[in-house]
Amino acid sequence: MTILSTSDADIAIAAAALRSGKLVALPTETVYGLGASARDSLALARVFAAKRRPAFDPLIVHVASPEEADQVADMSLPWAKEAARRFWPGPLTLVLPKRDWVPDLATSGLATVALRCPGLDLTRRIIAEAGVPVAAPSANLFGQLSPTTAGHVAAGLAEAVDYIVDGGPCRYGVESTVLDLSMDPPLVLRPGGLSLEELRRVIPGVQLFDRSTTSPRAPGQLPSHYAPAKPLRLFPAGSLPAALVERRGDACLALVCFGKRSAVAIEAAIKGGASPASLHDLSPAADPVEAAAALFSLLHRLDAGDCTEIWAERLPDDGLGLAVNDRLYKASVKPEAESGPDHG
Ligand code: TXA
Ligand code: MG
Repeated sequence: MTILSTSDADIAIAAAALRSGKLVALPTETVYGLGASARDSLALARVFAAKRRPAFDPLIVHVASPEEADQVADMSLPWAKEAARRFWPGPLTLVLPKRDWVPDLATSGLATVALRCPGLDLTRRIIAEAGVPVAAPSANLFGQLSPTTAGHVAAGLAEAVDYIVDGGPCRYGVESTVLDLSMDPPLVLRPGGLSLEELRRVIPGVQLFDRSTTSPRAPGQLPSHYAPAKPLRLFPAGSLPAALVERRGDACLALVCFGKRSAVAIEAAIKGGASPASLHDLSPAADPVEAAAALFSLLHRLDAGDCTEIWAERLPDDGLGLAVNDRLYKASVKPEAESGPDHG
């Protein structure tokens, strides 16, 4: 990890690093963010690995100017342009329908994306030079406090980031206000740097998400996890070959595994079986970061393809394996059966 200053030369280094898929912690006016190119799924997976998040929470995508928002999200929804005109650049994040190219890993498979144009000139300069929108959650380990200095970032994430741009302490010190404009009336999902009073002066009907009165299943509050339409069965690591040998029925299976060793064992079991099955290795090198980057797009592809059932093997719970397993588990639970444990 290298600490960068705010000199032109260092900004150029940070921008080039972002463009090439590296992780760069950046100051914003709210808190430091752990930045990665929003166009690069592998870089996004590394963000989750670095934060050691147990599941994939959707990230905020940052743009260099309000005009660029339209490339990331549909700004034609009521209030979107007005909110952007009045409050950007600044500590307001808008949740809006995403453009097709935005990776599922950035949105946790949601059809909406959280988007903001940060208020600090330095952040916008770096994003503009990088030439890509930058996805950035707060630059802290999961469950720890958001960082408001480069020192906080280094204390938690020194091993995991390539660069930290030291722009001094953050002016606000609290995260941005998250406003869901895909809901009617618009709903504040997270109070933050922009006050509710200021927001209501421009959008009078704004509601504040209230945990005590609103079902935790309200859209936007908990990510509605990407679940394939096809049935997905989840198996303990290493147990797919045995399950294949014992299976009954003529389902056309898509088999999802992790690592060359399990792929070889499964292939041997497929050869012994009768009905068709295709094999999909999330990471031949058994790298959970690579598996995370591949997960959502594979599930989309399988859903659109001609298999009738998806059988997936769990990963070891190390690193991002836990998050991938969490998503596979949620994808394997049918909505009717979800009343028991909370899968949020
Ligand atoms: O001030 C900030 O917002 C900082 C700086 C770095 O910009 N970023 C930040 O990111 O706080 P993070 O990942 O720690 O928080 C993102 C919040 C989460 O509460 C997440 O659930 C919500 O935004 N979020 C992201 N995408 C969403 C979506 N599509 N729908 C609903 N909520 C979303
Ligand atoms: Mg955070």
